[in-house]
Amino acid sequence: MKILVIGQGGREHTLVWKLAQSSLVEKIYCAPGNAGISQIAESIPMPEQFTDLVDWAESKNIALTIVGPEVPLAEGIVDVFHERGLKAFGPDKRAARLEASKDFAKQMMMKNNIPTAAHRTFVDAEEAMAYIEDYNAPVFVKANGLAAGKGVIPGRTFKEAAQAVTTILVDKAFGEAGDSVVIEEELIGEEASFTVLTDGTYCLPFVSSQDHKMSHDGDTGKNTGGMGAYSPAPVITPELHNDVMQRIVYPTIKGMADIGRPFKGVLYVGLMITDAGPKVVEFNCRFGDPEVQVLLPRLKSDLVPLLMACIDGTLEQHTDVQWYDEAAACVVMASGGYPDSYQTGKVITGLENAASIQGVNVFHAGTEQDGENIVTAGGRVLCVTAVAGELSDAIQRAYQGVSAIQFADAHFRNDIGYRALERD
Ligand code: AMP
Ligand code: GLY
Repeated sequence: MKILVIGQGGREHTLVWKLAQSSLVEKIYCAPGNAGISQIAESIPMPEQFTDLVDWAESKNIALTIVGPEVPLAEGIVDVFHERGLKAFGPDKRAARLEASKDFAKQMMMKNNIPTAAHRTFVDAEEAMAYIEDYNAPVFVKANGLAAGKGVIPGRTFKEAAQAVTTILVDKAFGEAGDSVVIEEELIGEEASFTVLTDGTYCLPFVSSQDHKMSHDGDTGKNTGGMGAYSPAPVITPELHNDVMQRIVYPTIKGMADIGRPFKGVLYVGLMITDAGPKVVEFNCRFGDPEVQVLLPRLKSDLVPLLMACIDGTLEQHTDVQWYDEAAACVVMASGGYPDSYQTGKVITGLENAASIQGVNVFHAGTEQDGENIVTAGGRVLCVTAVAGELSDAIQRAYQGVSAIQFADAHFRNDIGYRALERD
């Protein structure tokens, strides 16, 4: 079959890489893709109108479209494919609200007794200020809408929290995403990412993973889309896994179905493992990036039938999913300055040397072809991923890969996986 993947980051490169291994797949297209994706799939431009993309998909007999990022999902791209009778993987617009509005997610959780941080939502800056003055810091101040993982600002002191409210509600640093602000109590514990595939009823859990959201070593700096990840995350014990499925995942899927918003696709639950048990930090309606870079290299089974079963409502026929025992680690190489402003167009060298290291795959996140050269084209540039029998070896291999690659002002964290290693 012919497959279309939508997106241009490391997540989509990883999806295309995995799909290319399926015996069911004859050709993969990617809109708009990147320089790495173009080595294994045909990149096509992303039209402005979803209907134009559907016309194109129809003309090419695309059997399955997989939507990588949250923005087109929130804008209803899957609805447009379904209206035309084409199969598209991912939640529809009504279900994608779970990620697109933090306030919606909070209300859904409260209604269904799903453990999460206490919160209040405000549209008025003065009211928000009065609340944080009353409430003792620390808090987390969040733009309600989509902000590429950057709309969450810790308010460790009243001053910081007040500044965050101003940045979001008054200065509109995140545009419309900041028309309202969610202020949350701080959750204390270790974070983990929990990924499930769902057809709206049945949920198929993936192996666990953990990412590193802060830009600098020791979890300092600013929140980013993610600077690295590893799998498995030892914090998720088998007992905790069952707890998350019973108290969080199934109530969420049922809660969405109950309000006429059945959720089909990837449910990504960002968790904080607190002393009082796992609590939800956020929901995403798509694969985590860079989490999927460490999940798919561990998946032995073909991904295509699983994604099709989510669309067709037959996921419970796929309880026999196979995983490799190896661990995986991924180190993100970013442009200097990310997540603030950064330059692009820097020539990247050493990609082949890195890829020749045993167990290493270099997934492109923000790259483009410029004549003979591959150059930087985004904040996160590359995700250097490695698998090995032990997590410590996977991390070491990933860093060997990083050392083989050069571009000007490259920035990466040196401590990916430190929490898991500390446990050993
Ligand atoms: P989010 O985009 O909501 O996942 O927030 C980004 C990151 O901010 C999370 O991965 C956490 O590291 C941190 N964070 C968000 N909300 C909280 C909270 N209530 N307590 C502690 N940390 C949080
Ligand atoms: N790595 C976190 C995310 O994909 O949102």
